[in-house]
Amino acid sequence: MKLLGIIGSPRKGGNSAVLTEQVAAGAQSKWAQVESVTLSDLNIAPCRACMACKPEGGTCAQKDDMIPLLEKMRSADALILATPIYWGDVTAQMKAWIDRCYCLMDMQFNTSLKGKKVALVAVCADPQETMTDHGLKTLAQFCNFNQMKIVGEVKGAGLLMPGQVKEKAELLKAANDLGAKLIES
Ligand SMILES: Cc1cc2nc3c(=O)[nH]c(=O)nc-3n(C[C@H](O)[C@H](O)[C@H](O)COP(=O)(O)O)c2cc1C
Repeated sequence: MKLLGIIGSPRKGGNSAVLTEQVAAGAQSKWAQVESVTLSDLNIAPCRACMACKPEGGTCAQKDDMIPLLEKMRSADALILATPIYWGDVTAQMKAWIDRCYCLMDMQFNTSLKGKKVALVAVCADPQETMTDHGLKTLAQFCNFNQMKIVGEVKGAGLLMPGQVKEKAELLKAANDLGAKLIES
């Protein structure tokens, strides 16, 4: 089983990255091949709505780092989508990635992400985990459009500084458990 983590935070060692590592560790304990990418390390421009990918879908006219990432996504059995909450929603890096995935869909709404399993991670500074609701809805809507199977989600609240989540044992465990569930489901 191949698992691909997609991290929408620009911070190295940030909370979403730590939780992604934990999901991956839980999956690896059940035998999975895992790779994670940090979107801010890549050159992924926003979608230009040129519609060169329509009607067939499949690839994108913008030849940046999204092209090899699309290949990795196609070959993965499961994805981890992890984002910090910025202004109540996903980060700009995550939204650019979502929009560029438009090229995977044809005019009949067939998509090469169909059937892939997915674990969602969202983190925020607000003490209330409901602050993650809107961002998780953005990710879930993307997954539903692509007919992916959401296996579960982890919400980390009260996390302002990078890596602060390492002090929250129950969240680390929840992420690890989600990784195992991703493989078993
Ligand atoms: C531009 C910006 C906007 C943010 N907006 C919110 C917000 O709307 N609600 C919130 O609770 N936290 C907000 N935060 C805090 C981050 O969600 C929080 O620091 C999170 O732990 C960052 O995740 P990371 O460590 O994975 O980068 C914002 C941070 C930045 C830099």
